[in-house]
Parts: sequence; structure tokens; C-alpha cells
Amino acid sequence: MKVPKVFLSRHIKLFAELSDSYTEFRLEMPSEGDLKPLTRDFNDYQGLISTLSDPIDRDFLKKSKTLKVISNFAVGYNNIDVDSAKELSISVGNTPNTLTHSTAELALTLLLMSSRRTHSLQEKVLKGEWTQWEPEIDNGFDLRKTCIGIIGFGRIGQAFAKMAYDLWKCEIIIWPRESAKKTKCDFPFEVVSKEEFFRKTNVLSLHCPLSSETHKLIDEKFISRMNHPFHFINTARGACHDEEALLKYLNQGKIIGAGLDVTDPEPMNKNSPLLKKKNVVVLPHIGSATDKTRRDMAIQCLENIKAGLKG
Ligand code: DGY
Repeated sequence: MKVPKVFLSRHIKLFAELSDSYTEFRLEMPSEGDLKPLTRDFNDYQGLISTLSDPIDRDFLKKSKTLKVISNFAVGYNNIDVDSAKELSISVGNTPNTLTHSTAELALTLLLMSSRRTHSLQEKVLKGEWTQWEPEIDNGFDLRKTCIGIIGFGRIGQAFAKMAYDLWKCEIIIWPRESAKKTKCDFPFEVVSKEEFFRKTNVLSLHCPLSSETHKLIDEKFISRMNHPFHFINTARGACHDEEALLKYLNQGKIIGAGLDVTDPEPMNKNSPLLKKKNVVVLPHIGSATDKTRRDMAIQCLENIKAGLKG
């Protein structure tokens, strides 16, 4: 019997090593530096391992006549037209659980960086502008018992909330997830109305998937309704916020600081005015980027392919 072929859209060495133990399929990947591999003729493969930067649209799916399973190397799958995949009987898998801790930890890192202004203060040191110990000028924002407003209370949102509660006994409030009312956590949290969310939040952290409901959710109107200055953290998807609105309210001081691991587009334009702001830290989408997490994600991806090929 012919062994099914699976294509990995990027050259990722880890997969070459791990896939050796799978006899159910044969993995192929592009050579190093080949960044547009999905434009090739795709009619020979039963499986595809994609990354979040591969747009898997209806057109691509319709042309890929032999494809049975797509395994996304990410928990988010907004790059895939899942409805079309379903219609064409192509299974889609993602990597939940594996990256929960790493992504929550990065949200916490961004919060600490933003609240204590570490990146701009390091710049001050590097520029030789540290002239004396400052009693007032270098002060940051105290996180003890602060109110953290979370949008997206799934695995990552909950893990981040727990870290913040364990460290600082933060008040955790959630909007808009009705189903969060039934979520069981070993720390206190409250599902609140939108008005209460606007009234209480000091730190706004996004952990939601990108969908039509969350696209540009944090826009001018949303921010204008926040009652007081806040820190903004986004480790979800860049398209969930509107960069112009962020810039406007950073300039006005309503956003005290922003920590972004995700931007729209990615990579961020190097001339983006946000990069000139001292109170903004931008990282290159590294939420899941630890060796252990990426390995766990790769294993789950291969297992998803195996399951998908089995039907
Ligand atoms: C995901 O998995 O969706 C992250 O954004 C990338 O690791």
C-alpha cells in the first residue's frame, strides 16, 4: 500500500527528527529559506501541516483534491477557512493545551515590562542617560490587587489570571463570556457587565480567538468607554485591536502602556509609529516560543495528522 504523503509548509528541523517514528505517513518539507511553498502543486498530498502565516482559503482547499487532513502548528486557526474544509470533508486539527503555560507566561512578562517600563528604562541606561538614582521619575505601576479585565477566558486566559492572582491577589473580571459563569477555577473571578468592565479594568488583557466578533474589538469606541487609564496586553491576535486607536490613546495617556506580542500585519511595519512610543513593547509573536512548548506542539501536530488520516 502507498504510504500517504504529508507536506509541512516550512522547513522545521524538529519535525524531521520527530516524524521518523511515524510509519503511517511520510513527511516532506521545503528546503531552508523557501518561504512560499504552498503555491506549489498540491495534488499529491493527503496531509498538510500549516503555520499561522499560511492562508488556507477556499480556493486553495478546492484545488487540493487529495487532501484529507490539515494540522495547524498553532492553537489559533483563523488562517484556515474551517467551514470550507468541513464542506470538503477535510479534517482540521490545532494544538490546544501544549502552549497554555508559555503564552500566559508571556502575557505576564509583557505586563511586568509595561507596568515597570523596563524596555524604555533599559534604553535610558544604554544611551548613558542614567545620571543618578531617581526617587520619582522612573516609577512604574503597582500590580498588587489591581483589577485585570480579561477578554477570552479559555485555557490561556485562565492560566494568565491564575498567575496574576497568585502573584498579586489581583481582582479578575471577565467579559463577555456567559459560559465563563460555569467555569471552575481555584481562584476568585467574576463575570461582569460591559459597563462594569469599563469601570473597573486597570489592565486589559486579550486571550480570545480572532473571529468576526473580536476583529478590531479594541477600537476607538471601546477605549473611549474605559473609565480610567489602563495597561493593554495582547498575546491573542493583532487584528483584535486597532493600531490607530491604540496610538491615539497612548498619546493621550489613557493607555498607560501596551505590551503586544501580536500585530496586524505580521511582521509589523518597521516604520509603525507604535514602535517610536516609549511605553509600547512589541515582541515578534513568541507566545509559544520555548523549546519544550514547540516540541509538544510538533508532537500534537503529528498526532493530529495520524488521527486525521485514520479518519
Ligand atoms: C497560536 O498557537 O495560535 C499562537 O499564536 C502561536 O503559537
